Amino acid sequence: MSKHEKTQTTLKAEKSVSKASTGPGITRRTFIHRSLIAGAVVGAASHGLFPLINAIDVAYGAEEFSFAWISDTHLYPKALNTRFVDKAERAVNDVKEMKPAPDFLIFGGDLAQLGDPVELQLGAEILKGVAVKKHFIPGEHDWYLDMGETWRKLFGNPNWTFDHKGVRFIGLDTISRGPDYWSAKKMTPQERMGHMATLDGSVAGPWAGVGKDQLQWLSKTLSDWPKDKPVIVFSHNPLYEYYPPWNFWVRDWREVQEVLKPYGKVTNIHGHTHQVLYNEIGTMRSIGMLATSWNWPYPPEGVPALTTPMVRVDPGDHFDGVGWSKLTMTDKVAYKYMMWRKEVFAETQVDSGTGDNINQILSPRIADRP
Ligand SMILES: [Fe+2]
Ligand SMILES: [Fe+2]
Repeated sequence: MSKHEKTQTTLKAEKSVSKASTGPGITRRTFIHRSLIAGAVVGAASHGLFPLINAIDVAYGAEEFSFAWISDTHLYPKALNTRFVDKAERAVNDVKEMKPAPDFLIFGGDLAQLGDPVELQLGAEILKGVAVKKHFIPGEHDWYLDMGETWRKLFGNPNWTFDHKGVRFIGLDTISRGPDYWSAKKMTPQERMGHMATLDGSVAGPWAGVGKDQLQWLSKTLSDWPKDKPVIVFSHNPLYEYYPPWNFWVRDWREVQEVLKPYGKVTNIHGHTHQVLYNEIGTMRSIGMLATSWNWPYPPEGVPALTTPMVRVDPGDHFDGVGWSKLTMTDKVAYKYMMWRKEVFAETQVDSGTGDNINQILSPRIADRP
């Protein structure tokens, strides 16, 4: 089959799956199962548009339960604008209506836009609406005005661990170990924060990282956990190299992989990238969550091969392309994007914004190129 024919088959298959998916959200697992039922799509699975068949239906043996994720609310003070406040409140109301209630809520960072204590307090206030236990990890927007002082006061330690129904959960801080780009240049806290809040800025450099101290902590935290039992790691940034120029990675991802490699059932749930995103390295799956605030475009050098990119959003509807996520622990972590789009998975060609999204591969980071 020529490359062109293959592409056409895949797109047709994609379209038939799209038609079948008419719920309030996109359930990855349902999506995969439907794709396998529709015979024509098996071909698509084999060249990477969907996760591989052997990536699903591996029993973890954990008791079924669900939890919710909200992140990247990027709140401004209400006096400035309430556009992002409205969306954070909508997500909180959605979580409150979950039946049965989720076991807990993870807030995945970037609660504030510019680290302003007013923004962080506003976020804490809005999230008080959710009665279930909440766990917080920080984003870079929460941190670099006062170097985490307000965030810590409100939410405690930026990294933590707990066990729940046979799963070890770990929250990592991937944002606080940025290199000091401000002292020599005598930047004000506002200037420091401004550079951190620029997606394609270069002044803050490769700020995303786990750090030697936290890697040791991670290793120690996992040392008493059986290698065959599930581990879920929450991080603001993805724990692999997706697109370093935007800090869509952690710079020490290789070391992180070394620590996690012996554990066969690791899932990384992350924020920061504000888009539908999926990747696998060895036995570790990484799943990018939606932001409530806005969605980022896919970077110019492509998405991981296993990602089914989301279609472009309606620029006239600021509730489009954003939302929150329901996650259910069953055989694996089943996740459902609660995207506030009216027509879920629009009947258009899958559009990564980068042209050829079937054959493209993730490029090595610039430093690793020959
Ligand atoms: Fe964000
Ligand atoms: Fe972020």
